[in-house]
Amino acid sequence: MSSLLLDIPSVLWPSIPQLMVGCVILIVLKKYYNSHIQPWVFAKFYPSLANYHVTCREIKRQHFASMKSHKSADPELRKKGALRILEIGPGPGYNFEFYPPKSELTAVEVNRFFEEQFFEKQADHPHIKMERFVVGFAEDMKDVPDNSVDIVVSTMVLCSVRSVEGALKEVHRVLAPGGKYYYWEHVLDPENIWARLGQHLASYTYYDLLFGCQLNRKSGEIVKANKAGYSHIEHQRFRTPPEKGFEFLSFFHSAHAKGIATK
Ligand SMILES: C[S@@+](CC[C@H](N)C(=O)[O-])C[C@H]1O[C@@H](n2cnc3c(N)ncnc32)[C@H](O)[C@@H]1O
Repeated sequence: MSSLLLDIPSVLWPSIPQLMVGCVILIVLKKYYNSHIQPWVFAKFYPSLANYHVTCREIKRQHFASMKSHKSADPELRKKGALRILEIGPGPGYNFEFYPPKSELTAVEVNRFFEEQFFEKQADHPHIKMERFVVGFAEDMKDVPDNSVDIVVSTMVLCSVRSVEGALKEVHRVLAPGGKYYYWEHVLDPENIWARLGQHLASYTYYDLLFGCQLNRKSGEIVKANKAGYSHIEHQRFRTPPEKGFEFLSFFHSAHAKGIATK
């Protein structure tokens, strides 16, 4: 190491302090960008991808259909036919339309810039009673007590969380016995090598710059691997249809996994 330093041409020595200052500025900017600017950019940009939700609406409706026959673990709510639902990472709230009447919804969303869009959409779904919108991490839902919800939902969220295992541990903790976890996630393409290559290449830019998302996560496999504590998991791999106008992008995230895990 020391001989490597001595080999640096003498003409470069005066630039070393400037280079070091440059590196520090870049590191600080990147940290500031990731924690402050990226969430704002993402919340502004995400609704322009709403085409995905239009394309997937019917498949999603079928995925969530069994929710309406689920019975709450809370006797009072069961009598009323109501359900306590916790959605992690709801973003602008594209899943409101799939929740049964009398649902009582808590949201745990890390990006506070989604809050306004979320409540605007909620106004179109008066059959949902909003309990709380918590700005926080799915990996640490200390505001949500153990065994306190009947349903947990995540759609396209495990690709973004800091720790999939940490989030899954929390999902299991907050679910009441008999409760169900509905997940729907894009995953590393198990079949198409070109899509897989693109997912690996794009992951850095996707993750850090635009979507805060890792295209190459094996989220479905991780859910299956964490099945301990669940009595049953219905797990399915599938592909979403190409999105009109976004065929190129959808090629890279058409591989999906969805399922329902029952505690
Ligand atoms: C790709 S968006 C999906 C939004 C929405 N679920 C949907 O299906 O359109 C990912 C969402 O997860 C949120 N998110 C990312 N990491 C999170 C975390 N650790 N805890 C809670 N939410 C998180 C993001 O802020 C964003 O709203």
